[in-house]
Amino acid sequence: MATQTLSILDNRTGKKYELPIADGTIKAMDLRQIKVADDDFGLMTYDPAFMNTASCKSKITFIDGDKGILRYRGYPIEQLAEKSTFLEVAYLLLYGELPTKAQYDEWAENITMHTLIHENIKKLMDAFHYDAHPMGMLISTIGALSTFYTDAKDIHNPESRKKQTYRLIAKMPTIAAFAYRHSVGRPYVYPDNNLSYTANFMSMLWKMTELQFQASPVLVKALDVLFILHADHEQNCSASAMRGIGSSHVDPYSAMAGAAAALYGPLHGGANEEVLRMLDIVGTKEKVPAFIKDVKEGKGKLMGFGHRVYKNYDPRAKVIKTLADEVFEVTGRNPKLDIALELERIALEDEYFVKRKLYPNVDFYSGLIYQAMGFPVEMFPVLFSIPPTVGWIAQWEEMLLDGEQKIARPRQVFLGSGSRDYVVMSKRK
Ligand code: ACO
Repeated sequence: MATQTLSILDNRTGKKYELPIADGTIKAMDLRQIKVADDDFGLMTYDPAFMNTASCKSKITFIDGDKGILRYRGYPIEQLAEKSTFLEVAYLLLYGELPTKAQYDEWAENITMHTLIHENIKKLMDAFHYDAHPMGMLISTIGALSTFYTDAKDIHNPESRKKQTYRLIAKMPTIAAFAYRHSVGRPYVYPDNNLSYTANFMSMLWKMTELQFQASPVLVKALDVLFILHADHEQNCSASAMRGIGSSHVDPYSAMAGAAAALYGPLHGGANEEVLRMLDIVGTKEKVPAFIKDVKEGKGKLMGFGHRVYKNYDPRAKVIKTLADEVFEVTGRNPKLDIALELERIALEDEYFVKRKLYPNVDFYSGLIYQAMGFPVEMFPVLFSIPPTVGWIAQWEEMLLDGEQKIARPRQVFLGSGSRDYVVMSKRK
């Protein structure tokens, strides 16, 4: 098959350029041969927020935003949510295939054996102020792990990477639960290795004096599904941060602290916290039309709506909506659900949202479930940080093993002052 090319005719010089098209892209570096001025090093593209720039080749997660499709390593998210478990999905994302029974057992055993954290990390967490936001505690503690596991600097050693992978996936729930217990002034609960990944997390969060914490199997399953849905989302803000920071060859703990920080923002993983605050502001179902009117007049955003990639219903939001019914059977109905449903109903009929293709995203309903389960809103981004640990590591490793990758270093269009001479302070006006 003949190679597809893009022909570019430079009207100023009459020169014609043929740029090869591969995988639906042209290489930005191929534009360098086109000179805008004699002393210019070559034409660049200008793409703030990377709206139309692929920064890597990846085999991990596929999204078709127009059709509302999400697949991990080829498997539709709906099938994984229904039939798999978070730890199995973690294996799939990291190693590319679903594990055999023997592979799964070894994998689960390795994760389970790394759930404890060093006592000094516990002490470090103790030093936070009583009302410290648990997400701030999580981000700092992830970064601090790099000082405990200095072997993690050996990033080109596959065995070292494997060890850090076990540690990170195993310790995130422990750190998240400790951050929660600190915020409510309760003693830390150590991991119970006889429990599943999510049941153990719930035990560390809510165990009091009983010998073993008995979580509702429905809630354990629901949290497991939520973790599956959040495990990876290709090159989103936090995964790009992980790749970008990791491209400097720093250790994975330092890179992941940055990825978690990116997730914390209200336009990303912090959105589910904002959705709950928004529902409180709306207050009642009757006030929904007035709230929508304010949003359309630019007085705020409808949090949990819209997505950079999905211009259709976020497939994760569909699964979560069904999950909400199962959770509410156990916990009782979250009264804010009616406000959320009304917001969705009105927004999906409103021209403003229809024209802009704004649909509910993963955060619109997840907060309602978390709240019904008993989590305070401050814990939402923390919960949201546990599953993407898997995706972040998968993306980081793929980046490290990709021969085409280098240190991430975007270009700029400089519009500032030209060269000028320094003026001593006494002569400045
Ligand atoms: N409410 C009201 N209007 C919105 C919303 C919203 N939630 N989202 C986008 N719009 C409007 C924008 O104002 C813009 O209107 P305009 O064309 O008149 O200027 C238009 O829709 C396009 O929006 P952009 O901001 O260009 O879309 P972008 O892809 O940059 O942003 C984002 C995506 C950040 C998710 C945005 O939709 C948003 O802020 N949503 C609310 C926050 C949220 O729910 N974030 C969670 C995302 S999912 C996740 O990260 C896990």
